[in-house]
Parts: sequence; C-alpha cells; structure tokens
Amino acid sequence: MKKLIITIDGPAASGKEKIAKYIAKKWKLNHLDSGILYRRLALIFSIEKIDIENVNKIKNKLKNIHQISFRNSKNIRTQVISRLASKIAVHDCVRNYVNKLQYNFVNKNKKIQGFVIDGRDIGSVVFKNADLKLYIDVNPEIRAKRRYKQLIDSGEKSIYPKILKDIKLRDKQDKLRKHSPLVIPKGAHMVDNSGSFTDTIKQIKVLLDKI
Ligand code: C5P
Repeated sequence: MKKLIITIDGPAASGKEKIAKYIAKKWKLNHLDSGILYRRLALIFSIEKIDIENVNKIKNKLKNIHQISFRNSKNIRTQVISRLASKIAVHDCVRNYVNKLQYNFVNKNKKIQGFVIDGRDIGSVVFKNADLKLYIDVNPEIRAKRRYKQLIDSGEKSIYPKILKDIKLRDKQDKLRKHSPLVIPKGAHMVDNSGSFTDTIKQIKVLLDKI
C-alpha cells in the first residue's frame, strides 16, 4: 500500500511542528521532525568539540554514529544548539546523512499509513513527490515574539532583540546555503500562520480534504 506523505517546510519558529503534530494526530499519521536530527548531530558535535568547519572531521565522525535518537528534548532546543544546527546543515555530508535517516524511518515503518514530515527541504528535496506540500509563512517579528515566549516559559533566559537577530540570521543561513536551501517547494501550498491556530487549521483542512 502506498504511504501518504505530507511535507511541511518553512523558516525557523514558523509553527511547523505544532501544525505537523496536529495533522498527525487528526489523520493518524506518523510525525517526523527533521530539525531534531540536525539538532541531535549539533549536540554530538558540540559535546565532542568537533570542528564544524572541517568537513573531513565531520565525515569521520558521521561514519561512527550508528544510531541517533528521533526524540525531542530540552537540551536540543537551546539557542546555542539552534545556531549550531543551522551551521552544520550547510554541509552536504550532514544533509545526506540526515536524509538517509529519514528514508529509513519512512521505509521501515511498513504498517504506518502515512507520514507528516517537517523541515526546510522536505518538499523540495527529500520527498519531492509528496501527496501534499505545505509552506508555512510568518514574518520574522511574529516568529521572534512566539519563540521568546516559548523560551521564557521553558525557563531559559532570553532577550527579544537577540531572538529576532538569531531568527533573521538562521533565515539567511537556511535560504542562502548552497545545498538544499530553504525555498517554497514546487507545487507547495502557502499557509499563513500569522493569526490564530484555528485560522491556520481552517486553511489546512481545505487542502487535506482534497487529497
Ligand atoms: O526546524 P529546526 O529549527 O529544529 O531546525 C534546526 C536547524 O536545522 C535549522 O535552522 C536548519 O538550518 C536545519 N534544518 C535543515 N533542514 C531540515 C530541517 C532542519 O537544514 N530539513
């Protein structure tokens, strides 16, 4: 049986994860947050003090990582790891490694009827032939306000102008990198997530009903 694939791309803090979780629960699909995989690698590189500018050192390390957790956790959600994840994501070898993990995850789960996968290159590179592609759009100021609140609520110290600067920097890194930059994937539907979550879901339901 062909598995249903829904891709969700968009910039940092645009609400992809919340939307993906909602869709997964409502339509009984598995959710895969590809950002977690970049964050997990960033954490490993940071703990092991791997020089992230040195591609050979990265390649050697990747050869020795045989398992990686797909679980979210507080220690991969810090600002430091966010920045580092975005920096390591420019390397082709890192992207190939993460993409392989994603293909294995989808292929090994034979009984699952479908997947919602979110990230930066999911509809444009990883699952180009997805059944539905969404691109989430929110301006940087609204995203920074939401991220600021999230960090404060989780107990991390945070300064709004710094968050906004970080978000703009990550946007720049993600959009301008050579390999798999963040773009609106061909055939993707734009979803405006600047308003209430109810408004966003209304836009998405219309699209899902058409699959
Ligand atoms: O989505 P999240 O903010 O957790 O992703 C962390 C970083 O990982 C992003 O800033 C981006 O640079 C990178 N990433 C990516 N491609 C993906 C998912 C995440 O380049 N599919």
